[in-house]
Amino acid sequence: MHSEELKRRPVTLVTGASMGIGRALAEAFAGKGHHLLLVARSGDLLEALAEELRDGYGVRVFCCASDLAEQHGPERVFSYAEEHGLAIRLLVNCAGISRAGVYSDLPFHDLDAIMAVNVIASAKLIRLFLPDMLSERKGTVISIASLGGAQGVPGLALYSATKSFMITLTEALHVELDGTGINVIAVCPGFVDTGFLEKAGHNRQGIRLPVYGIAIVVRAVLRSIEKPRMLVYPTFLDFFLVFSQRFTPRAVAARISGFLAAAKGKQ
Ligand SMILES: NC(=O)c1ccc[n+]([C@@H]2O[C@H](COP(=O)([O-])OP(=O)(O)OC[C@H]3O[C@@H](n4cnc5c(N)ncnc54)[C@H](OP(=O)(O)O)[C@@H]3O)[C@@H](O)[C@H]2O)c1
Repeated sequence: MHSEELKRRPVTLVTGASMGIGRALAEAFAGKGHHLLLVARSGDLLEALAEELRDGYGVRVFCCASDLAEQHGPERVFSYAEEHGLAIRLLVNCAGISRAGVYSDLPFHDLDAIMAVNVIASAKLIRLFLPDMLSERKGTVISIASLGGAQGVPGLALYSATKSFMITLTEALHVELDGTGINVIAVCPGFVDTGFLEKAGHNRQGIRLPVYGIAIVVRAVLRSIEKPRMLVYPTFLDFFLVFSQRFTPRAVAARISGFLAAAKGKQ
């Protein structure tokens, strides 16, 4: 493919595409014919996935191995897209990390990384790619937030706060960009069966909610693109848990979520 032909080709950018939900989303988008820009730290996993998607779906797949916890990680991704002439029309902020346990024990390097990946990188990527979407009056931004962002979750205090940040940012931008052709969506899953929980040191056995499969999140994301909404809950239970908070004092909601997530360690 000549570089001229590549210029301004609409591309879907997925962060956290090396595994878990991001990987499954990349595959689903490839199945729908999207060209892709995949981002994560594990360049080898990205390249292997890219190969699979090129072979399986005949789409163009670009890989940018970047650590989004680094100060200029998001800018590096933006420069990569610019240098390759890729017009990002769908940005999926999926990279995310967590650490279960009481806040007073949270190691400072985890605190920095969780804030950097979940909050700063996601907010920066939106800011970096939005002007081009606006100039074309076309684009969608999807952030994989969490049910945990609907209230504080004891045992996941910082994580839940980062996801609340993404929900609030989404709500503001969704309305700010009304009528511009840009949709801004936050998808809020409950517990999902990926390696995320183990990496976060979350004891699966203690969780008092269903841990559902990735396919449920993928379906919700694809639906949210067809019928854009501001906040998307993949299951009825997710929706019900958030809806029921309207009739619940905030402290009670936080207490219930702490009980359901059982992430504090000693329960
Ligand atoms: N699993 C759940 O229960 C659950 C529930 C609700 C919401 N979510 C959200 O869903 C999203 C995806 O989670 P998942 O379950 O798919 O987790 P996962 O399987 O652990 O995947 C996380 C992805 O983020 C990437 N990532 C982590 N740190 C990064 C960094 N510093 N720079 C660049 N990429 C980085 C990882 O790639 P590398 O390691 O290769 O960098 C990986 O591709 C997250 O935002 C998470 O908060 C998950």
